[in-house]
Formats: sequence, structure tokens, C-alpha cells
Amino acid sequence: MKVIALNGSPNKKGNTYEALQLVAGELEKENIGVETVTVGDKVFQGCTGCRGCRAAGRCVLPDPAFGEIMDKVLEADGLILGSPVYYGGINGTMKCFLDRAFFSDTRGLLHHKVGTALVVLRRSGAMSAYEQLNNYLMASEILMPPCGWNIIYGAQPGEIREDKEGIQRLRRTGKNMAWLLKMKEQTKNTLTPPAPEARVFFNFIRTDANFKP
Ligand SMILES: Cc1cc2nc3c(=O)[nH]c(=O)nc-3n(C[C@H](O)[C@H](O)[C@H](O)COP(=O)(O)O)c2cc1C
Repeated sequence: MKVIALNGSPNKKGNTYEALQLVAGELEKENIGVETVTVGDKVFQGCTGCRGCRAAGRCVLPDPAFGEIMDKVLEADGLILGSPVYYGGINGTMKCFLDRAFFSDTRGLLHHKVGTALVVLRRSGAMSAYEQLNNYLMASEILMPPCGWNIIYGAQPGEIREDKEGIQRLRRTGKNMAWLLKMKEQTKNTLTPPAPEARVFFNFIRTDANFKP
């Protein structure tokens, strides 16, 4: 089994990287390989809403770096999304990448992979950024391991090593993620996942002429 850890930060070996390694370390102890990919040191255009992915099944913007990372994500059994908090949200490059990655999965290849998220910050805005990452996982029906709030504090690189509670939290998430990956692997021949369904879209448009707001 293999997991891809996406580091949203432009700092290749900063706090977000270290936080991802806390989860990865527990997976590796259970013989689950983890590859960490830095997203934040690249330049990604945001989603243009062109909907070319609806026919192509993947993002059609010309961008080899995006395609290379996306291939790794699609091949993996699990993923870990890690972002530093920038102004109470995830960092911009990570958002550009994730919007395109998840919106373009029109074939549902991400569905039922195992995934978790974590955020790193100096002080304020943890919950909004954490929810932002979890939204991608929930929207794609990713299996999320039991975890509390995967939030760890530190400003300068390495400072998260002092957040003992955050460290324990991320280690626990790593253990739970390994457990869930193994459960999925061990039941793959005996337990059929729910079949996909055609999506129903409802845009709150009332066509009834008698409708009064
Ligand atoms: C542009 C920018 C915006 C930031 N905004 C916040 C913020 O809103 N709240 C916060 O607590 N920390 C904020 N920080 C601090 C980072 O989240 C923190 O330093 C984090 O550890 C950086 O992770 P890294 O080492 O992986 O890059 C900000 C940092 C930058 C560069």
C-alpha cells in the first residue's frame, strides 16, 4: 500500500513537512509506504471553471507538474493533505492545486480512498483552514480515519516539536489511518463498497409559477 502526503507549504522542510512526517512515520511502522510531494513550491493556476474535465476525466489546463502529482494521487491508496494556515485559510498554491485535483475527478477515482488532513499555524485561523481541507475529502467520499483536530502550532521551522499535544494528535491519526487502510485491504474481496450513483443536482431554482418566496 502507498500513501501520498501533499505538502501545501512552499517550505520543502518546514513545519508542515514535519507535521506530515509525524503521520507518515506511523504508517511506515506498519509497512505502508509514504511519498511526500511538495505542492507549495510550484506555480499552479487556479481552476478556471472551464469544465473541460467533464469530458476528459481530468484537468485539461496545460500543466505537466499538475498532471505528474495527480497521477501519484490517483495511484495511491491514501492521501494526507497538509497546509500551513495563511490568513485563516489554506495557502493559495495548495488551494489552486486541490480545487483542480478534486473537481476534475469526474470518474470518481478518488472515492473511497483513505485520506486525512492537517494544518500548521502560528496562532489564529486553525479551524477554518482545517475545515477547508476536510471539505475536499468529504465531497469526494474519502474514508477518513478517526481523528480529533489535526492542528499543530509553530511559527519558525521546527517549532512544532514543542507542541506535545499536537504531536500526539498526529501520531494517533497516523495509527488510525494505518488501521483503516488495513481494514480496507483485508476486506476488499469480501465487502463490496456502495455502488456509485448518478449525481442529482438541485440549484434551488423554483419553476413553479405559483411559488412565492
Ligand atoms: C502569508 C502568511 C500568512 C500567514 N497567516 C497565518 C494566520 O492566519 N494564522 C497563523 O496562525 N499563522 C499564519 N502564518 C504563519 C504560518 O502558518 C506558520 O509560520 C507555519 O508554521 C508555516 O508552516 P511552514 O513552515 O510549513 O511553511 C502565516 C504565514 C504566512 C507566510
